[in-house]
Amino acid sequence: MRRSVHERGTELFLIVRGSGGSACHTLCDTLIRAQMPAIGLGTFGSDHVSDDEVAAAVKEAIALGYRHIDCASVYGNEDSIGRVLQEVLESGERSRDEFWITSKLWNDMHGDGDVLLSCARTLRDLKLDYLDLYLVHWPFPNFHAPGCSVDSRSPDAVPYIHERFMRTWRQMERLVDMGLVRHIGTSNVTIRKLELILRDARILPACNEMELHPHFQQPELFDYLCARGIQPVGFSPLGSPHRPERDRAETDTVDIEDPVITAIAEAHGVHPAGVCLKWAVQRGQIPIPFSTRRRNILSNLEAVASDPLSAEDMAALAGIDKNCRLIKGQVFLWNDDQRWQDLWDISDGPVIQDHSARGGRQGTDTEEEQIENEGSAVRCSEVDDPAGISRDNGR
Ligand SMILES: NC(=O)c1ccc[n+]([C@@H]2O[C@H](COP(=O)([O-])OP(=O)(O)OC[C@H]3O[C@@H](n4cnc5c(N)ncnc54)[C@H](OP(=O)(O)O)[C@@H]3O)[C@@H](O)[C@H]2O)c1
Repeated sequence: MRRSVHERGTELFLIVRGSGGSACHTLCDTLIRAQMPAIGLGTFGSDHVSDDEVAAAVKEAIALGYRHIDCASVYGNEDSIGRVLQEVLESGERSRDEFWITSKLWNDMHGDGDVLLSCARTLRDLKLDYLDLYLVHWPFPNFHAPGCSVDSRSPDAVPYIHERFMRTWRQMERLVDMGLVRHIGTSNVTIRKLELILRDARILPACNEMELHPHFQQPELFDYLCARGIQPVGFSPLGSPHRPERDRAETDTVDIEDPVITAIAEAHGVHPAGVCLKWAVQRGQIPIPFSTRRRNILSNLEAVASDPLSAEDMAALAGIDKNCRLIKGQVFLWNDDQRWQDLWDISDGPVIQDHSARGGRQGTDTEEEQIENEGSAVRCSEVDDPAGISRDNGR
């Protein structure tokens, strides 16, 4: 008799290894040992779903077999999610080590001493004593008022300053030393930034969370991560169909309406969302779809646990990449006259400041000097423009 997804829940922990896809079979050893689940539940309600609804979705998802929850302090709902986790763990039905809980450091907490504080708040809110993964949400300390328009610019916004990022990363590394987090990782970084981070990190990122869906496959960054044993985690895996109006552009495309996806969905008898998720898991990334509907939460889990796509399906899906970035991040830009592409290291202009030396030495510039240097920022001479950087961004 065919077992339900619920009964098979723990098998999903290993599905990445056995999925028979093409690329990322270099899932790093630590994650295999740690058994990072192959699919997680996203928890960003895109401003249109209440904290209680998200918490209820987490509860439903856990009951259905999800063991991986993607949280972030900026989503403002960790306290509500924490009540659900507490209830589940106190019930004795599930133990902490069955779960993979991710959270993220928000951009306003990159400063000295802030990382521990932020992590401690997240642990308090989630009612946990450790996180499985803690990510630096964006590689900039730039933030903005909630709900502001995409044209808003913070007067304090700065470009990526590697030395400053590494000061934040050192604090992330200390969280691992202290046992508060099991793994640390990056999010929304480019190859060029990663070249510097990997060069200087004492504890390497275990994962990189990045936008990944069939219309935005980021092949160069994906391959770069896989080659280095860094697990790609894919956000907006369905193409974020209900994202707020302010995050939409006329040129955006809709994955779940793509004729290649709808035809494969019909052949497999699933919703196009299921095809996006099968593709994601078979390719080797870990998708974290968001939903508050039981029906969708369940079907998303079932999609990755059943009826794999054929090699022909995978090849057809590889061919529909439109390099269509949906989450462009305009509000993190540091100058009025910039385009969102400038965030993603594709322009020829000065995009990275690297004051640090090889080998993880902390730089010596004062913060004032770094900010002063921004006007004449230098590109890092030690980082070649890796193939694909120019295709890694924008449409
Ligand atoms: N690191 C970062 O910077 C970053 C950025 C963005 C997102 N994220 C994370 O990634 C998660 C997912 O991204 P996302 O929420 O932008 O996009 P998404 O998961 O691609 O799309 C979510 C939307 O799809 C709908 N949906 C889910 N399953 C469906 C199904 N089977 N059939 C039809 N519709 C379905 C949901 O609506 P219903 O509720 O009606 O099902 C929901 O509104 C976030 O929640 C967050 O945790 C991280």
